[in-house]
Amino acid sequence: MTGMGVGTTAVAVAGLRLAWAGERAQPETVVLDDFTLAVPPGSFTCIVGPSGCGKSTLLRVLAGLLVPDGGTAQVGGADVRGRPGACAWLPQRDNLLPWRRVLANATLGAEIGGRSRAEAEAEARPLLERFGLGGVERSWPSQLSGGMRQRLAVLRTFLIDSPVLLLDEPFGALDALTRRRMQTWLQEVWLDAPGERRTVLLVTHDVEEALLLGDRVVVLSERPGRIVADIEVGFARPRPAELVSDAAFVAQRAALLAALGA
Ligand SMILES: Nc1ncnc2c1ncn2[C@@H]1O[C@H](COP(=O)(O)OP(=O)(O)OP(=O)(O)O)[C@@H](O)[C@H]1O
Ligand SMILES: [Mg+2]
Repeated sequence: MTGMGVGTTAVAVAGLRLAWAGERAQPETVVLDDFTLAVPPGSFTCIVGPSGCGKSTLLRVLAGLLVPDGGTAQVGGADVRGRPGACAWLPQRDNLLPWRRVLANATLGAEIGGRSRAEAEAEARPLLERFGLGGVERSWPSQLSGGMRQRLAVLRTFLIDSPVLLLDEPFGALDALTRRRMQTWLQEVWLDAPGERRTVLLVTHDVEEALLLGDRVVVLSERPGRIVADIEVGFARPRPAELVSDAAFVAQRAALLAALGA
């Protein structure tokens, strides 16, 4: 894994602007306008905001897949505008390939990143158990539950050799109980992973998820997304699911919902 010196920012965007041209005489849609955010290495940042405010757009810019119209976007100090590969990105939909078995789906991102399948499989096998996928490595994605599919999608992202993980609503499609389990599980695998702790940017609509997982929660406004609140979350880790009924947690949730205008 690429090391980053103490004090460098893992992710930094500044003055970011991105607009979609309108069709015919329609005005353009400004998604991000003068957007600035910096994130230290090894931190877990959650991004919440109304639908359409530009959360996925921000992650796609960092993934190098969307080139902004203005501003800078850096990962580990390097310019990532139009340069995919600096981050491990989990898109909003899991994008599992139905014709690849579980193990082969797990190694897909690492293979695309240039590792041999054998090497990627050797690394994936012991992790399957850790990700609750022991015994299903020969199954097809269609044979998995929704929670298993999401764990597989997260495992695939973890196996990409990158210090920065971009997770776009990884548990959005799951029922409340499964989602809660996934949240504590994600925290565990993130905390327990060997090597330097990875920097995570996680987009969610769920303010409890944001407070359970994040060191920091950034709240965006309606499009163009601007930061309307930036909250430090100080609860000790590992955070148990029961934290959601703690008075301090409930107070922070109320503050977040107020910032969201909910
Ligand atoms: N290819 C595209 N062409 C034109 N407009 C687009 C395109 N992709 C996204 N947009 C617009 O950009 C805006 C931001 O989209 P984005 O996907 O970043 O929102 P989001 O905050 O992730 O929303 P959600 O919470 O619903 O996932 C939306 O208004 C969307 O309609
Ligand atoms: Mg989105």
